[in-house]
Amino acid sequence: VRLASRINNLEPYVFETLGHRIAALRAQGHNIVDLGISDPDLPPNSEVIARLAGEARRPAAHRYPPYAGTRALRQAVADWYQERFQVSLDPEHEILITLGSKESLVHLALAVVNPGDVVLAPDPGYPAYAMAGALFGAETHYLSLRPEHGFLPRLDEVPDQVRERARLLYLNYPNNPTGRVAPPGAWAEWARWCQPQGTVLVSDLAYADIVFEGRAASVLEVPEARDLAVESLTWSKGHSMQGWRVGALAGSHQIIEAVRRVESNINAGVFLPIQAAAETALREDHPEALRDRYRRRRDLAVTMLRAAGFRLVTPEAAVYCWVAAPDGDGDRLAEEALGAGVAVTPGRAFGPSSRDHVRISLTHSRAELQEGLERLARVAALL
Ligand SMILES: Cc1ncc(COP(=O)(O)O)c(C=O)c1O
Repeated sequence: VRLASRINNLEPYVFETLGHRIAALRAQGHNIVDLGISDPDLPPNSEVIARLAGEARRPAAHRYPPYAGTRALRQAVADWYQERFQVSLDPEHEILITLGSKESLVHLALAVVNPGDVVLAPDPGYPAYAMAGALFGAETHYLSLRPEHGFLPRLDEVPDQVRERARLLYLNYPNNPTGRVAPPGAWAEWARWCQPQGTVLVSDLAYADIVFEGRAASVLEVPEARDLAVESLTWSKGHSMQGWRVGALAGSHQIIEAVRRVESNINAGVFLPIQAAAETALREDHPEALRDRYRRRRDLAVTMLRAAGFRLVTPEAAVYCWVAAPDGDGDRLAEEALGAGVAVTPGRAFGPSSRDHVRISLTHSRAELQEGLERLARVAALL
């Protein structure tokens, strides 16, 4: 057979590759603590599970769901925006329910980008953004997020020829992997940069509920952004429902309509009982308890990492520590760590200029985290 040439531009998904390596080592009898992937260990709320089970007993629940999501869940998302950000959204035209956020972040590019266009992706950044450009024949231009710039993008450094062709700008605050929160006024500034050339601004708000210092802002709070921005939400992190595959897109009517057309031609929506349970989670969950657990894990990890001699900026949000490799070689640190029984993600997974870091995920029990970090400290002592 002959495969599509786009496959050559598409690397195997980094966490699948790392997962295979860990599985192979475990099959050989090695004890590995996996602090690489972000896969929340905390259970969803029991009321949410009860709603799922109850709804699944209704015969009509097994029918195809409405493509854009149920009216009830879209209304719950609109109510959440009103309560959290005092932003009014029309649930019919400005909200779309999705099969988790990863695939709709990629489908956004299918709706917006032509071959030869530019997709702007943060480096470090969630890998799906750069992949979206690569899949659809666009050029990915990386925006380097450096500690000396507070892990914020320097849009003023984007060359004019790139800016003119930039159709899509992905940004993610609270940020994976750096833990940075967008400072006040940042979304307005980024929206103003997008306006002249009509770049679509995507705010990935996956960590809206996990903020320790500062505040998670919504791009939709910015009046100038309402025509050119969409925001991506997910139940994966704030409600520990990552296996359920449910998320939402909210924002510009025109962009939502375009993504809805793509999605309805590719998939058939989210299982109705999952949408009902997602509504219960959004209306009933109290993210404070979850946030406090992650905060205690963050404090433990930062203390242990610093005691071992690692340099890192204390994360203000999300579920990661972004750690500088002592000799600037994140690949080497990740390899040595794996040899010592702890998996961490090498920085290159998040972009070409991030090779000097590794990422540690806090989605693990305290005991596991402590064991993994002790192993990492022993590696640091030998480097
Ligand atoms: C920044 C960011 N966006 C999106 C996702 C994808 O989440 P999901 O597809 O489970 O909604 C993740 C997952 O780790 C993430 O870190």
